[in-house]
Order: sequence, then C-alpha cells, then structure tokens
Amino acid sequence: MIPQASPYHQYKMYEKEIRAVVKKVFTSGRYILGTEVEKFEKEFSKFIGVNSAISCANGTDALFMALKQLELGKGDEVLVPAHTALASAAAIKMVGAEPVYVDIKSDTFTIDPDKVLKLCNKKTKALIAVHIYGQACDMDKIMKIGKLKNIKIIEDCAQSVGSSYNNKMLGSIGDIGCFSFFPTKNLGAIGDGGCVVTNNKKLANKIKRFRQYGWNDDRKTLSPGINSRLDELQAAILRIKLVNLNKDNKLRNNQASFYINKLRLPEVVTPIIRKNSFHSFHLFVIKCEKRNQLMNYLKSNKIITALHYKTPIHLMPGYSSKKKLPVTENLSKKILSLPLFPGLTKANQKKVINKIHQFYSKR
Ligand SMILES: Cc1ncc(COP(=O)(O)O)c(C=O)c1O
Repeated sequence: MIPQASPYHQYKMYEKEIRAVVKKVFTSGRYILGTEVEKFEKEFSKFIGVNSAISCANGTDALFMALKQLELGKGDEVLVPAHTALASAAAIKMVGAEPVYVDIKSDTFTIDPDKVLKLCNKKTKALIAVHIYGQACDMDKIMKIGKLKNIKIIEDCAQSVGSSYNNKMLGSIGDIGCFSFFPTKNLGAIGDGGCVVTNNKKLANKIKRFRQYGWNDDRKTLSPGINSRLDELQAAILRIKLVNLNKDNKLRNNQASFYINKLRLPEVVTPIIRKNSFHSFHLFVIKCEKRNQLMNYLKSNKIITALHYKTPIHLMPGYSSKKKLPVTENLSKKILSLPLFPGLTKANQKKVINKIHQFYSKR
C-alpha cells in the first residue's frame, strides 16, 4: 500500500534521535512547559524570523488565540477562503465572529485578493490568509488591503511551515502567524501541537498569558484565559524535526518536480509555484478529469490518495453561507492529493505516475 501521507516514515527517519530525547524528557521529571518548550519557542521564532513564538496545544487553538487576542468577537466579520481545513473557519466561530467566505484563484488555490475589497464593510476586522498546501498567498496585495481597510492579517501557516514569499518566511509577514504540528504536517509532532508567531511583543505577551488561564509571571489572572499548552515531549521531538525541516521540504520539492515532469497529460493539471516564493509542498494536489474514477482506480492498485477538501466550508451544514463561490466549488470536484512525503521511494512514485498514465490511456 502506498499511503498519501506517512507520519510513520517521518518518525522512522529520526527514530534514534527521537527515542533519545523521549528518554531524556521521561527522566527529567518535567513534562509541561519546561526547558524543551522554551528552547523550541526560541528556535522556532528564529527559524520564522520573528521575535516571539508561543506554542500551544494545536493549530486550531493557535488561530483561536490569535483572533481572540486581536480582540475579534461578536458582530465582527473575518474574511477567509472556503477551500481550506474546517479549522480556519471554526476558529472564527469560536471567538463568536462570522466567517465571510472569499473565492480563490484557480491557479494557486489561494484566496483571491481581487474579490476581497467588495466584501469589506464596517464589520470586517480581519482576513485569514491560508497558505494552502504550502503555496504562499499573494501577500503583497493582501498586506495592501490590510492597510487600506485597517484590517488585521492572520496567516494560517498550518500547511506551509518553511514556505517563503519574497525571501520572508510565511508567518512573519502578517500581523500574526498560526501553525499546526499535527503529525502529517511538514513539521509534525507525535501527537498534537501548534504555535503562534508575531513581531508584536505586546500581543505575544497577551497570548502567552491567555494560553494559561490569563496568568502573569506571579500566577495572577488579569484577564481570563484558557489552557492550551504544548508538552515537553512534543517540543523535544519538534526540535529534532525543526533542524531537518529545510532538508525535508527539499525532498518534498524534489518529489513534486518529478510528478510535474512526468504527469504531462491533457487530463491533468499539476500545481504551479508562485513567483518569488518557496512552496513547501505539504500536499501535492492535481486538478484532474474523472477524479472519482481515478481515485478508485489508484485505490484498486493499492495507491491511497485523498481529497483536500471534498466539501468546501461554505457548503457544510453548520458553517454554511448562501454565497456562491464558483472557483472553489468547481475545484473541489477536480482535486486529488497524490502520495508525497519524505520517505516516499522513487519506485513508489513511479508506480503512481504509471498508474495515472494507464488510467487515462484506457479511457
Ligand atoms: C489550513 C489549516 N488550518 C488549521 C489547521 C488546524 O490545525 P490542528 O489540526 O492542529 O488543530 C489545519 C490542520 O488540519 C489546517 O490544515
């Protein structure tokens, strides 16, 4: 079976080092918010190129904490694409604000800045730029809109750790950046994890207090908070993976180039990479004809693919809106995420390519 993603392969690549740090943490006697978390936060903020990183329990909490501490709530509207993980919109609802869905560009699959201005009104307070699949949004245009309309820009970098735009790491461009360390992510924990990054020290301090009941250094609560902490074990594992992240992202890029070169078929559109950016290829998503049949054919040949995402958020009961998003809706019927992860062998990648060619040659 060739999986679409494999956190297990990523574990095996660093197994020896991971086992050593797990033992170290076990014997340290400190399991929550200790030196491993402190070191990880320092190293991660340096990697992204910002002055503060605040780790937390998962990527959804990272978005929630960011929105909450940017003081978004009831009556506010937040612009967000519907072609993303549900978490991007769920976090908006969690603070009591309303998601306003924006259509995407058909070539990059990222939020379409040209459709944003029409949707801005007095209630619009923020925009979540989701760097989907690892592809950078058009941050020049988005930052201009942010200034013009005086709205906060939140970067959802859950799928784009290590991606850059105009030589700046994603997460360091907007007002705040939010990351997920879900096991399948490019920087994946062996469990849940997340992080918020910002250059705004005041905002960082607010988020740090909010992360733990609103406590200050004396454990006094000045304003209410939650409990969303990264544990020492995950931080220690993430520190190992962070050292290797650029190398792993290069491997992903090599695999992506191989697919792009070999999948030149009239029925298949392979991803483009935005100019002046580095794409971390969290996912390799093609647009293709006869998508469902292809997916089944590959499955019958023991190749697992996935849909990111089968149902756009605006069409989900519970998060729905009456808005029509033609590009998003059309895309959701054509996308297919092919196997891509560090540890995927060339032989297996060739098998995927051959089977796709075979499928279309039969039709
Ligand atoms: C774009 C995006 N945003 C947010 C999240 C939420 O991250 P987590 O699963 O760690 O809560 C994810 C993860 O699936 C994601 O892909």
